[in-house]
Amino acid sequence: MVSGSFAPIVRNLGLIGLLCGATSVAHAATDTAHADVESALLHRQLDLSRAQQWDPKRNRWLPLYLPPAKVYVVGTDAAYAPFESQNEKGEIVGFDIEVVQAVAAKAGIEVKFVNTPWEGIFNALAQGDRDLLVSAVTITDERKQTIDFTDPYFDAVQLIAVKETSKVTKFADLKKLKVGVQTGTTGDEAVTKLLGKNSTAIKRFESTPLALKELESGGVDAVVADNGVVVHYVANNPGGKFKTITDKEFAPEQYGIAVKKGNTELVEKLNNGLAEIQADGSYNQIYTKYFGQAPVAKGAAAPASAASK
Ligand code: ARG
Repeated sequence: MVSGSFAPIVRNLGLIGLLCGATSVAHAATDTAHADVESALLHRQLDLSRAQQWDPKRNRWLPLYLPPAKVYVVGTDAAYAPFESQNEKGEIVGFDIEVVQAVAAKAGIEVKFVNTPWEGIFNALAQGDRDLLVSAVTITDERKQTIDFTDPYFDAVQLIAVKETSKVTKFADLKKLKVGVQTGTTGDEAVTKLLGKNSTAIKRFESTPLALKELESGGVDAVVADNGVVVHYVANNPGGKFKTITDKEFAPEQYGIAVKKGNTELVEKLNNGLAEIQADGSYNQIYTKYFGQAPVAKGAAAPASAASK
């Protein structure tokens, strides 16, 4: 069963003596030696995980059997179209997903996406339940204390959604109103700052679409959330009769892929991948697929590494 898959020269760190006597390098260059290997296997004396084969091109010993490649588990709160959502088949799809798939292909790593509620997402990363997060996560100084980010890959800003009939024209107008946000987002932070930490007029939801549904049914007067998601929701729910309001008060935001604090090796791989997909046009292709046009904002259009330096 194993013969044939063996290279002409094989050694095994656990079984040097059996293959060719007492030397530290055992050569199994002949069929006879193959038979020895087979018999050792049969008698469970040969630990295959430690078997090596000689690579004449590289002039060194390499593992005979490579351990299965690590699959990086990517956490994403998949209720955030067009960045991440679940299709009818339950598959996680979206802009963020395609960006990370393209980055992973360049970085030579395997990824698997796991739907992860936003409220537990940073904890899941800290616990090691997720290796990275792609979830339209805004890079903030506060978050940088506990997690590491790649270079930015997307520019965003907060946007206000209200009913068409609303008199709201600017962010400050929300002071006397009931405002819906997704818990723990940058939208939540902005509204908390405006209305006050102890305000009971802030209605917090576990997802942004839930907050927007509440706006539709009149439970809140406004929602503050990332522009991309609000624009997408409003466009796909014409029956909601929404309008959106921008305000210069909102600080520009940038999304980054998050990794566990100190995982510099992974950040580097991802940053290289991001730079590559921006250089070869695949980032722009994904961007255009989801947003109908190539990125215009400087941050998103510039190479990721250049944007953060
Ligand atoms: N960009 C915002 C933040 O980082 C909201 C992100 C929410 N993402 C999501 N997939 N629910 O706070």
